[in-house]
Amino acid sequence: MERQEGLQAFESVFGAPATDLFTAAGRINVIGEHVDYCGGKVFPAALNLRCNVYARKTGGKTVRMAFRGLDGIVCLEIDKLDSYKNLKIGNYQAGVAYLLQQKGVEIVGCDLYYDCTVPFGSGLSSSAAIEVATAVTFSEYAGVEYDKVEIAKLSQRAENEYAGVNCGIMDQFASAMGKKDHAVLLDCSTLEYEYVPLQLGTYCLVVANCNKPHNLGESKYNVRRQEVEMALKMFQKELNVKCLAEITPQQFQETKYLLSGVVAKRAEHVVMECDRVKKAVLALKNGDLVELGRLLNESHYSLRDLYEVTGRELDTLSALARKESDCLGSRMIGAGFGGCTISIVKKTGVDGFIRRVGKAYQETIGYRASFYETSIEDGITVEKL
Ligand code: GLA
Repeated sequence: MERQEGLQAFESVFGAPATDLFTAAGRINVIGEHVDYCGGKVFPAALNLRCNVYARKTGGKTVRMAFRGLDGIVCLEIDKLDSYKNLKIGNYQAGVAYLLQQKGVEIVGCDLYYDCTVPFGSGLSSSAAIEVATAVTFSEYAGVEYDKVEIAKLSQRAENEYAGVNCGIMDQFASAMGKKDHAVLLDCSTLEYEYVPLQLGTYCLVVANCNKPHNLGESKYNVRRQEVEMALKMFQKELNVKCLAEITPQQFQETKYLLSGVVAKRAEHVVMECDRVKKAVLALKNGDLVELGRLLNESHYSLRDLYEVTGRELDTLSALARKESDCLGSRMIGAGFGGCTISIVKKTGVDGFIRRVGKAYQETIGYRASFYETSIEDGITVEKL
């Protein structure tokens, strides 16, 4: 939605103009999937698809929220912020407000209009964008100094405790700390990070949504976490490690006899994916896009065969991409089970790529994929209107 429409919508719902615009980004992840909660390094980047919060401070005891595309208003009473866990819409916001309040931040009454352009359930982290944008809004209105990394950590807790998804830190960190035209190489065990220019020369990243309906990934996500925790316990019988990401491919080969079945497959994915992240960052820094593309493909195969979080839709979409001569590599991103792929595609070939992959996908799967025009932007923005 254009800004003008956001402003008009705000005024027509709340009867007075918005005074501020707070935004936080959705994200892609170049590589390093399902390793953040194993202490691994991830390589996400913040997008132009964002959660925009048009806002006005009212100073009362109520937070009123309206949402693009939905009728009505959701109200949060500031004295009862612990009682909104079961809200279908607005629970992320309530979770963030509650946790901030617990930390001593005074939540101030305000009117908020949410225009989230990150498609829901797309694997582009709409929930993180909502949480981070909300945390910024309340912190700004409380007049407190805030640290963006702390905002990311608090937002992750809100997701864990309110939405019941045991997610890692990647999404909220990217949403808060992303930098224009850069990917963030984040070490999830220390939260040390480095910005790496995401320059692909004559190539670009194409983001495609497989649009699988009824994506029930959240419960399966939590199961994967239990499996890797089990794997870590078994390795710790022999190895002195704090997380799976510390295990080298060679150590894995030497000690994998400790594990069997599904748990062994999950652990192999994590160890090898962490190794691919190192190689991918190097390839990007050296401008070796062919190698980067190869690593993206390897990542997808591992998520498909070892971690088992892809499914027919994501496998079809990325396989069709890989068949294109202008494409160097393609993989699913995010939690999986549905959602998006990224592909490295020659800029001059993007239109044809989208046309052919889109057509073949629809013929195979029976419904359309969506392709987004994306750019890499800053994580958080704060603006007076
Ligand atoms: C989701 C989670 C992240 C991360 C990815 C998989 O997006 O929110 O923490 O685990 O899945 O890499």
